[in-house]
Amino acid sequence: MSHRAIGIFDSGVGGLTVLQEVLQTLPDEELNYLGDTARVPYGTKSPSTVIRYSLEAAEFLCRHGAKALVVACNTASSVAVPALEDRFQVPVIGVIEPGALRAVTLSRSGRIGVIGTEATVTSGAYTQAIHRLRPDARVFSAICPLFVPLAEEGWVNHPVTRMVAEEYLAPLLEQKIDTLVLGCTHYPLLKPALRALVGEEVCLVDSAEETARALAGMLQNQELQRAEGPGGVQFFVTDVPDRFERVGGGFLGSALTQVQRVRLD
Ligand code: DGL
Repeated sequence: MSHRAIGIFDSGVGGLTVLQEVLQTLPDEELNYLGDTARVPYGTKSPSTVIRYSLEAAEFLCRHGAKALVVACNTASSVAVPALEDRFQVPVIGVIEPGALRAVTLSRSGRIGVIGTEATVTSGAYTQAIHRLRPDARVFSAICPLFVPLAEEGWVNHPVTRMVAEEYLAPLLEQKIDTLVLGCTHYPLLKPALRALVGEEVCLVDSAEETARALAGMLQNQELQRAEGPGGVQFFVTDVPDRFERVGGGFLGSALTQVQRVRLD
C-alpha cells in the first residue's frame, strides 16, 4: 500500500499551493493532482453540489490507486470530508482541521479571523473546528470572493489587491484579531499584501503548510510512507489544460507539463 500515490484534488489551480507544500514535505511520494477546472469555482456553490463534485473527484483518484486523499480545496474540505470518509476506505485529510489547530496554537488572545469563499465561511467549518479546540475562542469571519481572481491574475501585491483587502479585512481588524486563517487555496499567494495590511502582530495561518504537516504525520502513523523516492506528480484536469498550465505555473512556482484532460463520469 505504501508505494501507492497520494490523491490530491481541488476545484482548479488553487490546490497547487497545497501540492507545493506536500512536495516540499514529502519529496519521496508519488502524487496525483486533480483540478476540476470544468466546474470551478466551488466557492459559490451549494454544499450538496460541492459534495457531489468531491465524491466524483475522489472516486477518480481512488480508481488511480490512491492510498490517501487530500482535499486541498477549503470549500470542499468544509462540507465534504464526512461524505468522503463514509464512501472511501483510505484516510482523508482536509485543510480545515490542520488550519484550525495552527490558529489555536498561535493565538494568544483567542480572537481569530477566518477568511474564505462564501461556501466555506457559510458552512461555519473553521469556526466549529476552532471551538472544538478552544471553546472560548472568538471567531470573526469574512467572505473574500475577489481574492480568487486577483490571485489568478497574479496581482499578489497590486494596489487594487491592497484596496480590496483593506475593505474586506477592516471589520476583522476592528475586532482586534491576533491571528488570521487564510481559509482558501488562493490566499497564501496574497500574503505580501495581507501582511502589509495587518502588520507584524497578526499571525497569518497558511492552511496549505499545516495540511502538508498533518499529512506527513498521518502517513507515518499509519505506516503509509513511501520507503524510497524520488516521487513525482501527475496532473489531471477536467477541462482543456491550457489555462491550468499557464496560471498554475505561477501558483506552483515551476512549469506544469504533461497535464492530462480527463472525464470524471
Ligand atoms: N479552491 C477554492 C477554495 O479553497 C477556491 C476556488 C473556488 O471557489 O473553487 O475554497
